Amino acid sequence: MKEVTASPGETEALAARLAVLLAAGDVIAVSGELGAGKTTFVRGAARELGVTEPVSSPTFTIGHRYEAPVPVAHLDLYRIAGLDPEEWGDLEPYFDGTIAFVEWPEHGGDWLPQARAVVTLEHVDESHRSVRIDSDLGL
Ligand SMILES: Nc1ncnc2c1ncn2[C@@H]1O[C@H](COP(=O)(O)OP(=O)(O)OP(=O)(O)O)[C@@H](O)[C@H]1O
Ligand SMILES: [Mg+2]
Repeated sequence: MKEVTASPGETEALAARLAVLLAAGDVIAVSGELGAGKTTFVRGAARELGVTEPVSSPTFTIGHRYEAPVPVAHLDLYRIAGLDPEEWGDLEPYFDGTIAFVEWPEHGGDWLPQARAVVTLEHVDESHRSVRIDSDLGL
């Protein structure tokens, strides 16, 4: 599916529609250029999944794990240039029993678990983004 959203709130609401279809072990790749709305999308999904903490970009760490009925992981691989086995070992716990959202999944290479859904965001103009969701979840 592909929709154009007109505000961050609409992007969050669309993410919530995906979130209700997800289960523990699912990995969601969230792609798009800087400022496309990746973190906004993850925030909307995390809220729907019961995360009450503020969800922001994991700037000083690669990832963040939020407690929720099913724990939610949020990774940003922007600064990763190809993972070596040791780095992958550090990341693996984020995927253990969680619903995991990964920004810049391209940087994870072959190490990332297969994505259940691939979200691609693009700028349309200042307030509009096109949001494409490829998955077998019926959205
Ligand atoms: N329709 C929209 N959907 C999402 N964000 C929007 C929209 N319109 C404007 N914005 C703005 O675009 C910015 C998106 O920032 P966000 O941090 O979500 O992007 P990002 O893709 O995670 O960036 P980065 O690559 O730096 O991590 C926010 O400032 C948000 O308010
Ligand atoms: Mg971000």
